[in-house]
Amino acid sequence: MAEMTTDALELPMAGQDADTIYDLLTSLIVPRPIAWISTVSTSGVRNLAPYSWFTQASVVPPCVVFTATGDRDTLANARGSGEFVVNVMTDALLDAMSITAADAPREVDEFTLAGVEATSAAMVDAPRVAAAPAHLECRVMQVVPVGDSHLVVGEVVHAHVAASVRDGAGADRERLGPVASSSGDRYLGVEPLRTIAPATWEELQR
Ligand SMILES: Cc1cc2nc3c(=O)[nH]c(=O)nc-3n(C[C@H](O)[C@H](O)[C@H](O)COP(=O)(O)O)c2cc1C
Repeated sequence: MAEMTTDALELPMAGQDADTIYDLLTSLIVPRPIAWISTVSTSGVRNLAPYSWFTQASVVPPCVVFTATGDRDTLANARGSGEFVVNVMTDALLDAMSITAADAPREVDEFTLAGVEATSAAMVDAPRVAAAPAHLECRVMQVVPVGDSHLVVGEVVHAHVAASVRDGAGADRERLGPVASSSGDRYLGVEPLRTIAPATWEELQR
């Protein structure tokens, strides 16, 4: 159980250590969708790792962005090959995902390490996770240094949505069953709370 205090937190960020900042921000920026990212190194080693600092970045062209906070193999591979695949995370994939979060040496094939079956992508050389219900094949558009981290912006060049979860030109959330990341190694299902349409300026003038 998390520690309960009655005092509000007022925390100037200047001078805070990285762990404090990390714990604060990952407790407030929740839930975070998990991109299980597959890449291939320039020497042909397949890599797989979870990234929850991940979101959509633009619509046209369709871009996504994830943050590598350290010297990650995924970052090196995305830079080297110019490609990555986002595999959508589900409950059934979590145990294998946690194996791929290990700091395995660069020469280790993380599909083999985690016993994950791969299937080929349509437009990129990086493999897809066969058991993931949806995949976004991406070409690296920009790698942007930010503080101690790097944003990797990828253009989605091909999307796959399995027939079992497909709903028109997208996916049905319930059947997709995405899992999100929370603080403290916790994972969340994504259940709807309520539906509320955003206000329009016109409505507010009535
Ligand atoms: C659920 C989850 C989400 C994570 N998200 C990130 C992230 O957004 N950025 C990051 O740099 N590391 C993140 N990590 C840590 C990396 O997955 C971990 O360091 C991994 O070993 C990196 O693998 P790579 O070096 O093969 O890319 C996350 C770990 C977990 C378990």
